[in-house]
Amino acid sequence: MSSTGHPVDPFTAWRLDQRVAIVTGGGQGIGAEIARTLAGAGALVTILDRNEATGAAIAAEIGGQFAEADVTTTASVSRAVADVAEHRGHIDILVNNAGIVRNTPAEETNDEEWQAIFGVNVEGVFRCSREVGRIMLAAGRGVIVNVASMSGLVVNRPQPQAAYNASKAAVIMLTRSLAAEWASRGVRVNAVAPGYVATELTLRGMANPGWKHEWLAATPLGRVAEPAEIAPAVLYLASDASSYVTGSVVVVDGGYTAW
Ligand SMILES: NC(=O)c1ccc[n+]([C@@H]2O[C@H](COP(=O)([O-])OP(=O)(O)OC[C@H]3O[C@@H](n4cnc5c(N)ncnc54)[C@H](O)[C@@H]3O)[C@@H](O)[C@H]2O)c1
Repeated sequence: MSSTGHPVDPFTAWRLDQRVAIVTGGGQGIGAEIARTLAGAGALVTILDRNEATGAAIAAEIGGQFAEADVTTTASVSRAVADVAEHRGHIDILVNNAGIVRNTPAEETNDEEWQAIFGVNVEGVFRCSREVGRIMLAAGRGVIVNVASMSGLVVNRPQPQAAYNASKAAVIMLTRSLAAEWASRGVRVNAVAPGYVATELTLRGMANPGWKHEWLAATPLGRVAEPAEIAPAVLYLASDASSYVTGSVVVVDGGYTAW
């Protein structure tokens, strides 16, 4: 331990033994891989997802818990969070990963679609952060990792997705705002910004030859990521290895935003 009480061993600092974690949208894709990685580092993980079949399956695979909840409704989120806090006694880590995308031209995006995207991607992140944040602030410790996107930093092309891009930019500013507000009370808040990742969310794009060509041509590494290439950045931000990091965005995009 250093004089500030923070671990200085660069290897043990990545362990999460007995830390209590919630991963939203952990039933598949990037969230499932984040859940596997946190559990592999020793964390006690609860998958919070609206899809019971996939969420419960991943929870069983990693020896964790499943909480059926929809991040767009306060009642289901607060019930799930209260259950975890009661069962485990505290909550150390929240990963806000649940997110949705629609590829609609801006002029054809109606209010319902805009609200659906912001409801999950922005309000869901805020709602879960608020509910878990209260518990972390009372305990004087905790870390929150938000899964934003490179789409919160640049307008990736060629697909139209103004609402998604705006929602992810909002996630980044919310990350910074919560980090600034809660730093003095022991809670760190950071984000990862993935580029294209091989999941159900990007299947449609990869099946479109025009999109696929442009995606890969615009990515210096020349390929999409596997979910397992995003999860280590989340582990870093969730662990004491990042004890001096808050309000940051770790970009994991194969170089997309460098061009
Ligand atoms: N796949 C990519 O290329 C990519 C790139 C950058 C950022 N992201 C972000 O990563 C995150 C995960 O994406 P993915 O590709 O794994 O998506 P995915 O569609 O494969 O999985 C999303 C998961 O979130 C859950 N979910 C969706 N809405 C929910 C709600 N209202 N309440 C609870 N659970 C809900 C789904 O049931 C599912 O398990 C998202 O925030 C996405 O925007 C993805």
